[in-house]
Amino acid sequence: MSTATDAQRMEKIVSLCKRRGFIFQSSEIYGGLNGAWDYGPLGVELKRNLKNYWWRVMVHERDDVVGMDGSILMNRAVWKASGHQDTFSDPMVDCRSCKARLRADQLIDKGKGRQCPNCGGKDLTEPRAFNLMFKTYVGATEDESSVTYLRPETAQAIFVQFKNILDVSRKKLPFGIAQIGKAFRNEINPRNFNFRSREFEQMELEYFCRAEEGMRLLEYWKEERLKFYESIGIPRDKLHVVTVPDEERAFYSKGTYDIEYDFPFGRQELEGVAYRTDYDLAQHQKASGKSLEYFDEETKQKFIPHVVEPSAGVDRTVLALICDAYSEDEAPDDKGKMETRIVLRFHPRIAPVKCAIFPLLKNKEPLVAKAKQIVDLLRPHMFVFYDEGGAIGRRYRRQDEIGTPFGITVDFETLGEKDTALRDTVTLRERDSMKQERVVIKDLVEILTSRIR
Ligand code: GAP
Repeated sequence: MSTATDAQRMEKIVSLCKRRGFIFQSSEIYGGLNGAWDYGPLGVELKRNLKNYWWRVMVHERDDVVGMDGSILMNRAVWKASGHQDTFSDPMVDCRSCKARLRADQLIDKGKGRQCPNCGGKDLTEPRAFNLMFKTYVGATEDESSVTYLRPETAQAIFVQFKNILDVSRKKLPFGIAQIGKAFRNEINPRNFNFRSREFEQMELEYFCRAEEGMRLLEYWKEERLKFYESIGIPRDKLHVVTVPDEERAFYSKGTYDIEYDFPFGRQELEGVAYRTDYDLAQHQKASGKSLEYFDEETKQKFIPHVVEPSAGVDRTVLALICDAYSEDEAPDDKGKMETRIVLRFHPRIAPVKCAIFPLLKNKEPLVAKAKQIVDLLRPHMFVFYDEGGAIGRRYRRQDEIGTPFGITVDFETLGEKDTALRDTVTLRERDSMKQERVVIKDLVEILTSRIR
């Protein structure tokens, strides 16, 4: 259950996201657009690091997965066959008192009948199905024949390209097709910052297999995905696996897990791992009249493969990473007085900036020149940031607040002025412990790359 302190924590996180350039409201100068968010200079780095790491683990480090990048606009027939056109809807209720439009599952019922969560009113309409797909027109005419939808999930592009990809990749079952991309849903109530948005990104894998392997692979992918979250710094004790009960599961699924995370606003879904049987391919084969079967060379049999799908939200994971990383502790300022320090304790592999480089003083040319040489040395290997403005303690604090795991300071010892043995060494500071070590400049690339991988 979330508390007042959790609400305050969330407020601080939202304000930090804006102040430091992680996430802004879309179209803010025009009053915003509900359910749409823009990622600023640091947010885009964090998001890219997450997506790149997902791609590395799910595609590059495996022999049995290939990638694709499908279009957002597809033939309307795709959405008819997949079932989205007829059934991808939420039951919606209008409150006649305050005019709020609500999802039926958001109504409160304290034993005295359904009530509006906004005004407490009981004058509510009956639930009506509201299709969540954004409708649009392709081409110059705006009539029924030109209608299609912005895709509400990336998965369908994978199913409809299954045969092409099978032919070109020559993969044998079990194998997967991965994709990262935008999806759009006209959510009735977007909320909790970027958690439930109308435009968002998904990271999806469709892992095709034989029917008899489906339940085993469902377990396998659930475990793999839990390991993934741990490897980007989300602790296991804040992740929860929920078995989706029969009555809530899609009718074609033989088993679905939700992986949930303890957000400050409550425990909420990050990812679904679903065994979707052969439903999707069978539907598209039937509707298109094109074979989507797999030919087993050994048994000489043709059949429609089954599929297990781990489907994760990029934006939700970014939010979970920020929420998990946010912390406050005490650290001495430049005069040794203790002050509150805000730190984003990101895992180094997903931190937006990997290392900050500071000359001790900005008006000492040899210090500045050396610091810039270090920037050039590290830049081909990682995203670094050079900062020469203000007292060194303040510069550290600014980096702590955006989660930069390492800071390098070039001082007079680097120049060998006090002790020639220390020439071409720098201090390397670690964000969380604030511990500093003296390292040789030429070892920096190796030390840092081994810690951020
Ligand atoms: N292909 C399966 C599929 O789309 P889903 O459970 O509807 O399944 C998968 O979505 C993931 O996409 C969710 O676990 C969530 O992380 C993300 N997601 C879904 N709707 C979202 C929304 N409105 N805003 C942000 N992320 C969303």
